[in-house]
Amino acid sequence: MENFVGIITGCNSLTGIGRATAYSISKKNPKAIYVTDIKDSDLATLAEEITKTTGVECIAKLVDASSDEDVKGVIDDAIKKYDRLDFYFANAGIGNAKSMAEQTKEVFLETMTINAWSVFAAVKYASAAMEHTSSQKPKSAGSIVATASIAAARSGAGSMSYAASKAAIVNICQTGAWRLHGKNIRVNAVCPGVIETEMTKPLLEAVTEDPRKQRLAMLHSALERYGRPEEVGAMVAFLVSRDASFITGQAIAVDGGSTAALPYLPCFADS
Ligand SMILES: NC(=O)c1ccc[n+]([C@@H]2O[C@H](COP(=O)([O-])OP(=O)(O)OC[C@H]3O[C@@H](n4cnc5c(N)ncnc54)[C@H](O)[C@@H]3O)[C@@H](O)[C@H]2O)c1
Repeated sequence: MENFVGIITGCNSLTGIGRATAYSISKKNPKAIYVTDIKDSDLATLAEEITKTTGVECIAKLVDASSDEDVKGVIDDAIKKYDRLDFYFANAGIGNAKSMAEQTKEVFLETMTINAWSVFAAVKYASAAMEHTSSQKPKSAGSIVATASIAAARSGAGSMSYAASKAAIVNICQTGAWRLHGKNIRVNAVCPGVIETEMTKPLLEAVTEDPRKQRLAMLHSALERYGRPEEVGAMVAFLVSRDASFITGQAIAVDGGSTAALPYLPCFADS
């Protein structure tokens, strides 16, 4: 990823996928990474630590990932300062654990705006910047990755609003990859299973209190555990790198095998 410049959204959470991915990407030696979030209580420390430990220029920036102005602002900043944009990881998102009765049109649209419009905006504005050429980057090129979820593919991993927003992300990535045909700009989604982050903390704490539920929850993965944010980060770092140069339009599960199976029944374990 030599000389690469990129942007990651949703990096403030100390245990989140965005932050873990910033570390994974920084190990691949890009030129600069913008670490962004709608909150900035812990962004500056992330940027300082990455710069100190890897030498990668890491810039903390307050960005609402669903705001056109903010997204254009950070992309313009990268072009002005570095004259190139090579990757954009559209990771910011919110959970929505409301029941069907509690959902309203406003709640549904808020979930769609933050989770799915943020990805649409990333594809729209980041791809235009990735087409920009300069003496250092003579050809159009880039990689956009978005965080969808296994909820995009199956029921049982989130509310209807959340799942719909994640399914929209997968489709935006598939159609985006084709809308950008011939431009050497790849668009992919990662679909994490249950990952231990701030978002899932209340849920996992509630499950941990009940040993029976905990055992059942572990069976969602063939590896009998939850995922770690850096395990998603490693996949994203691969997808934004030159190593993934022929991968586009895909929704790649990082889920311990959960979407590979029907609900697992221990009585069939050896048959
Ligand atoms: N944790 C899981 O099990 C899991 C599974 C599948 C998908 N995901 C997805 O992964 C992504 C990251 O979530 P996480 O698990 O790391 O959760 P997290 O809560 O730890 O981190 C999410 C981050 O996004 C930020 N954010 C929220 N709205 C934003 C906005 N409008 N603009 C910019 N930043 C915003 C938050 O401030 C936070 O720092 C989300 O899109 C989530 O839906 C998580």
